[in-house]
Amino acid sequence: MRILFLGDVVGQTGCLAIKQNLQNVIKENKIDFTIINGENAADNGVGITQNNIDEFFSCGVDVITTGNHIWDQKETYEFIKTQPKLLRPLNLDEKLPGAGFIILTSRNGFKIGVLNLMGNVFMKKCDDLFKTMENFLENKKLKKRL
Ligand SMILES: [Fe+2]
Repeated sequence: MRILFLGDVVGQTGCLAIKQNLQNVIKENKIDFTIINGENAADNGVGITQNNIDEFFSCGVDVITTGNHIWDQKETYEFIKTQPKLLRPLNLDEKLPGAGFIILTSRNGFKIGVLNLMGNVFMKKCDDLFKTMENFLENKKLKKRL
């Protein structure tokens, strides 16, 4: 299993690099699953737009994670409701739209759970990620692959 995780893709330059290279990187390295942190992908370098998401998915991204800049583009509050593969930190207020966890299938046929948590050292306060994780693990039963 080869998982590619790309940290912050920032603004137009970052998105252009993804557009020009990601499909080849996936192919050449036989990547089975691709995760990208896209919270700073918008043209002005903060937040993420519907256009960014469409572009990432068309380049082979499987799931997009985010962090403290998730809501910097106002449109995100709306479109995240229809984009289950765009995660927001699970340890934010549960009344906020979107989800912090998803299970998807990799190119080689394995189920992969992706959980998005955010730390808060030098950051805006969010729920304790360790408590959120413990709570998540207590309530989520993962099945063995048959
Ligand atoms: Fe961030």
